[in-house]
Amino acid sequence: MAAKQAKQYFPTVPHVGFEGLDSKNPFAFKQYNPDQIVAGKAMKNHLRFAMAYWHSMRGEGGDPFGPGTVSYRSYDSQSAERAAVHRMRAAFEFMDKLGIDFYCFHDRDIVDEAGNLAETNKRLDKMADRLEVIQQDYGKKLLWGTTNAFSNPRFMSGAGTNPRVEAFAYAAAQVKKAMEVTAKLGGEGYVFWGGREGYDTLLNTDMKRELEHLAAFMHGAVAHKKDIGFTGQFYIEPKPMEPTKHQYDFDAATVISFLIANNLADDFKLNIEANHATLAGHDFQHDLVVAADNGMLGSVDANRGDSNNGWDTDQFPTDIYQTTLAMLPILKMGGFTTGGLNFDAKVRRQSNTPEDLALAHIGAMDAFAFGLKVANRLIEDRALDSFIEERYATWDHDAMGQEIERNGVADFEALEKYTLTNGEVRPESGRQEQLENVLNQYIWTTH
Ligand code: XUL
Ligand code: CO
Repeated sequence: MAAKQAKQYFPTVPHVGFEGLDSKNPFAFKQYNPDQIVAGKAMKNHLRFAMAYWHSMRGEGGDPFGPGTVSYRSYDSQSAERAAVHRMRAAFEFMDKLGIDFYCFHDRDIVDEAGNLAETNKRLDKMADRLEVIQQDYGKKLLWGTTNAFSNPRFMSGAGTNPRVEAFAYAAAQVKKAMEVTAKLGGEGYVFWGGREGYDTLLNTDMKRELEHLAAFMHGAVAHKKDIGFTGQFYIEPKPMEPTKHQYDFDAATVISFLIANNLADDFKLNIEANHATLAGHDFQHDLVVAADNGMLGSVDANRGDSNNGWDTDQFPTDIYQTTLAMLPILKMGGFTTGGLNFDAKVRRQSNTPEDLALAHIGAMDAFAFGLKVANRLIEDRALDSFIEERYATWDHDAMGQEIERNGVADFEALEKYTLTNGEVRPESGRQEQLENVLNQYIWTTH
């Protein structure tokens, strides 16, 4: 139950409930009905929505051409520690009103840095004490914590991949503390997004050395996790570019290769962000499936890009095709365990009111609830799966196919003989358009 707060930070945002498709109330869910059972589980437990502290509580709407447009957080002008307390209260009021069960933060979202690391850590500890109480009062949970080791100029050349060992050490100290705070708050996970782990030019970069350092950094994190008995899940969040020209955690496949090559695969899963996958030239669904196929799909940063823009626009996810196609691999892997759908998304610069922030979350939650329902029907009816199964049927029915799959080795002598005997291949239609029509039909008929 929500604690009563004397002051309201979002007085114009009401508590948002499910009203269904006919509702004209902008502050109501049309699709997201938290307790409705889908595939044997309440929607809220499938979707595990999280609010991103950095965008929703700290984003000011600035862009490279102008300052922020958000002016409703008057507390931002107070001292760092006082502002942090107001921000925290605002965050929990917001989550309470929207019915969002989880939150995610960077250490520096919670409270700004002080003059040195020791003072900064003290501030963080004070806030962690407060967060522990307020999350209990409101019945909210920390989905994951992370470290901001990319904003401060000390990290301009990277954190775990910085050419200077002092920066590497600083980043390690910061991750250590952020992990401890995450553990104290019962965080279900901890994310590593390689903010500036990458390079702008190979003219000044020893890529091999930087990647070896990054692996050492990750091994250090794994060791510290064991030391402190933190049982949350570690995730790496791939991104191909921005802020650096080339980010080392380029996409799901690159990250998985890095983890396997460095003997880290058992200790990490992936946090897949929609707009990062599309920046890498993939569909969102592609990176989800790459991660899921490797048993490493852990959590999701739910947003979207703009197909006409080549950067990380971090828009709220409202595209029901994307949410449907994303929910397919999530449902198929049996749903989230420690992970969830974190709205790593920001309202547009012209959307400068508290209501805009609430409406953005409402739309995104509805879009994912709808995607969940469509995906579940597609799976239950085997609408795509039966076609895919049939497409590979020769591997099931043909002795040669079975042998290759069983042994995992192709015998080229035997395959030559097989081909000389069997002759030409019959090209079979992939029926893409038919399947796209099926997808549309499921979307039209899901309520
Ligand atoms: C940046 C990004 C980060 C991570 C957390 O593009 O997605 O906010 O999610 O550091
Ligand atoms: Co993200």
